[in-house]
Amino acid sequence: MLKPIKLANKNFLSSLNTSSEELFYILEMAKNLKNKNSNFEFKNKVLGLIFDKSSTRTRVSFQVAMSRLGGTTVDLNPTTSQIGRGEPIRDTARVLSRYCDVLAIRTFKQSDLEEYAKWSSKPVINALTDIEHPCQALADYMTIKEEFVDFKNVVLTFIGDGNNVANSLILCGALLGVEVRIACPKGYEPNSLVIKKAYEIYKDKDLLKITNDPIKAVFGANVIYTDVWSSMGEENKKAEKDKLFNGYTVDNDLVSKAEKDVIILHCLPAYRSKEITDEVIESKKSRIFEQAENRLHVQQALLACLLS
Ligand code: CP
Ligand code: NVA
Repeated sequence: MLKPIKLANKNFLSSLNTSSEELFYILEMAKNLKNKNSNFEFKNKVLGLIFDKSSTRTRVSFQVAMSRLGGTTVDLNPTTSQIGRGEPIRDTARVLSRYCDVLAIRTFKQSDLEEYAKWSSKPVINALTDIEHPCQALADYMTIKEEFVDFKNVVLTFIGDGNNVANSLILCGALLGVEVRIACPKGYEPNSLVIKKAYEIYKDKDLLKITNDPIKAVFGANVIYTDVWSSMGEENKKAEKDKLFNGYTVDNDLVSKAEKDVIILHCLPAYRSKEITDEVIESKKSRIFEQAENRLHVQQALLACLLS
């Protein structure tokens, strides 16, 4: 069993907060944890969860991960705490970090998450913002590694909105040396800063491709990944985006153009028959529920490292 290591960065606000070596280590630790029970002891350690947006997987997998480490979780519902009343982040962060040993925060603006981290004396984890979902990317690459053993010849194609999930897949993929292709409608490309950073990490390797053509993008793909077309906070754009994203549905026809060994990923929750068909979710190629399970293992490894 690999032991938790102290990470160079106190926080996990972005996929870029870990080095490539640290990332590989976390993935290996998560694999160990999946196969056996851990003997790490984090008794009396407390994780605080602050979720400004809904969640099933992230909330529950963090709670179970902390419980398996021997610690406990406090779920701070913004509507019943003073957060919902508008208490400043700098006050909330200073107070909560005197009670809790680590905080996982799901919110809208990345800058709000950074404000929490600035004022918190304890590690802060990004449990999803409008810009990134780095815990999701850890589970995604763990699932890909389980299937293909290493990342050398893996082509990952993400079809849909260049959103938080796509941004973290790009950054984490760049650190792990994976070829990542994004196929999205014009104007819905991933964050330009994220793209710039990824190109810097890949250096002279031509491994990041952004296109508007989903068919071209799946040719040669070993992994097809999709996510909702309208993320949380974009409810008012749903009707417009549903029209614009016509042609970007991951269906059997699109899947048949990829490599024979292709697997299908989706971070969930999914809108069946919008970004992905029912048939593809339920197909033999789908690893979507393994991917959801892996959230637990990667977050347990991450928590153990951040608490060490
Ligand atoms: N994939 C994911 O983060 O799911 P939840 O919104 O249910 O946490
Ligand atoms: N892009 C989605 C991911 C949900 C897990 C959202 O932000 O709503």
